[in-house]
Amino acid sequence: GLTPLLLMTLLAMIFGIHMVLAIGGADMPVVISMLNSYSGWAAAATGFMLSNDLLIVVGALVGSSGAILSYIMCRAMNRRFLSVILGGFGTTGVAKGPTEQGEVTALTGSETALLLKSASSVIVVPGYGMAVAHAQHSVSSVVALLRDKGINARFAIHPVAGRMPGHMNVLLAEAKVPYDIVLEMDEINNEFPDTDAVLVIGANDIVNPAAQTEPDSPIAGMPVLEVWKSGTVIVMKRSMATGYAGVDNPLFYRDNTRMLFGDAKASVE
Ligand code: TAP
Repeated sequence: GLTPLLLMTLLAMIFGIHMVLAIGGADMPVVISMLNSYSGWAAAATGFMLSNDLLIVVGALVGSSGAILSYIMCRAMNRRFLSVILGGFGTTGVAKGPTEQGEVTALTGSETALLLKSASSVIVVPGYGMAVAHAQHSVSSVVALLRDKGINARFAIHPVAGRMPGHMNVLLAEAKVPYDIVLEMDEINNEFPDTDAVLVIGANDIVNPAAQTEPDSPIAGMPVLEVWKSGTVIVMKRSMATGYAGVDNPLFYRDNTRMLFGDAKASVE
């Protein structure tokens, strides 16, 4: 039985590579959790073959939780579950080159501090870079400091910020940020026009206006935090590099955007 086994393995590998290659960068988290789900169903099927009840139950748990998670992520990214798993139909699939070029305005740490001190409302948008830099404790202290000064400082959380659902919520909870100032995207998205300053800390795709303005973009249609509608946006990241989806971000070139380059933790401190 070795030849059919090897042949089947080879076929499965080709099928797997072919299926994943067709899927656009922004849809990748859905694919990852979907593959987790498949591994659960495979384990459950093995359980039936071996008449092992434990394997069936555990496999079904992994399979169904992965499927539910994939569905939730699809909804958060405004994607149709079927189009994602059928190989990225309905998405362009490839990351495009820079969409908008122009001048970026860089800011220093002390200028940022002055700007924040003169604001009366501030929203902090954390992303993957905050997690990488382990900046959550410093961010929490800055927000506490601003609130002590009577500034209305809050957090805006995008459903797919970071690399797993709830990633930012967990980090902020660890840094003892009170739950009532951590708001979900739907709760806070219409408050950006009334906000003086927005601090984008290590986030990129979740604040990319191209999702709304460029129908060809791999992230087109994904709901984003509309930070550009606020008075001033300060983006903290190390370079002009793209985020997970590999697309350029026109936000960086807007008139009301300032870049604070450097590691998120060092910048916040
Ligand atoms: P991203 O779009 O990945 O952007 C993160 C940014 O952080 C990068 O542009 C990077 O720019 C910056 N960065 C990295 N290390 C840093 C550091 N030490 N200090 C400062 N900045 C740093 O992240 P996002 O905005 O949170 O969006 C999440 C993305 O991940 C979405 O595309 C989403 O679809 C995807 N995704 C989400 C999940 C879930 S379920 N949450 C799972 C997998 C994938 P520099 O390199 O220039 O610093």
